[in-house]
Amino acid sequence: MTMANDLNSHSGINLGAPPVTYGTGERPPRGDYARARPDYTCEQDWSRYTEADHDTYRRLYARQLQQLPGMACDEFIAAVRQLGAPDRIPRFDEISERLLKATGWQVVGVPGLIPEEAFFALLAERRFPVTDWIRRPEEFDYVVEPDVFHDLFGHVPLLFDPVFADYMQAYGAGGLKASRLDACELLARLYWYTVEFGLIATPEGLRAYGAGILSSAGELPYSVCSREPRRVAFDLERLMRSRYRIDTYQATYFVIDSFRQLFDATAPDFTPIYARVRETIAAAGEIEAGVVLPGERQFRV
Ligand code: PHE
Ligand code: FE
Repeated sequence: MTMANDLNSHSGINLGAPPVTYGTGERPPRGDYARARPDYTCEQDWSRYTEADHDTYRRLYARQLQQLPGMACDEFIAAVRQLGAPDRIPRFDEISERLLKATGWQVVGVPGLIPEEAFFALLAERRFPVTDWIRRPEEFDYVVEPDVFHDLFGHVPLLFDPVFADYMQAYGAGGLKASRLDACELLARLYWYTVEFGLIATPEGLRAYGAGILSSAGELPYSVCSREPRRVAFDLERLMRSRYRIDTYQATYFVIDSFRQLFDATAPDFTPIYARVRETIAAAGEIEAGVVLPGERQFRV
């Protein structure tokens, strides 16, 4: 799941119409929001998947699994089989049963992108929203909105890691607070550059832990191995000043040392941090994707 940057409704209550989302803005999200509950969750309706849907999932899973060694972090590789047999789209209930035992998280179905506040509220309750539809065969390599493959394969394995699981919940609670402080844009950058596109430094080299990378056949090797993008050390305030790209591979990745480091660095109250970042942006501007600051150390591959 990637949150919808919700421009209209600030209530986060589903009224049956799709939320306004980032991106092109022309095309409404694809899901049917009429079947979702007020909190935007919905039944998975597993029997509706066709053989072609299961086949798409199977082929996406197989292609991605074979790329993991040497590119995905160990925690992800250890947990990916908790998704269950890769020959069919998993049942969310079965994953939730295992996840509840491991870290107290659950996965819940949603029709697609949901408004920020609804998204934050679910995370704060340790419920991870998973889009229930799968991309069409012609979207095999690239789908504009997150689908069930991105949401499950990309996000769910790390919810089995206790520290990362706590980080995700803290993020949700922090999001509810950021909504009140009108700081969602700054906080969204944290999600983007960690949960979606984060890299982690290990003794064996850089590895991916971000879901947007781990669910992408092209961006996984690009982010970990290519000489093209910039890779800089995770620094909360630097990160919050940094713009990101939504329509192409990232130009900059942020590298953490451990999930503990990420958790600890984001534990302090963000209220004064938002204020400071806003001042810095007012004085020195935002940092464009791909720009490295003078003296900033880069990770080489
Ligand atoms: N500590 C943050 C705050 O006070 C909450 C948060 C935690 C946000 C983890 C993101 C990730 O707002
Ligand atoms: Fe996502």
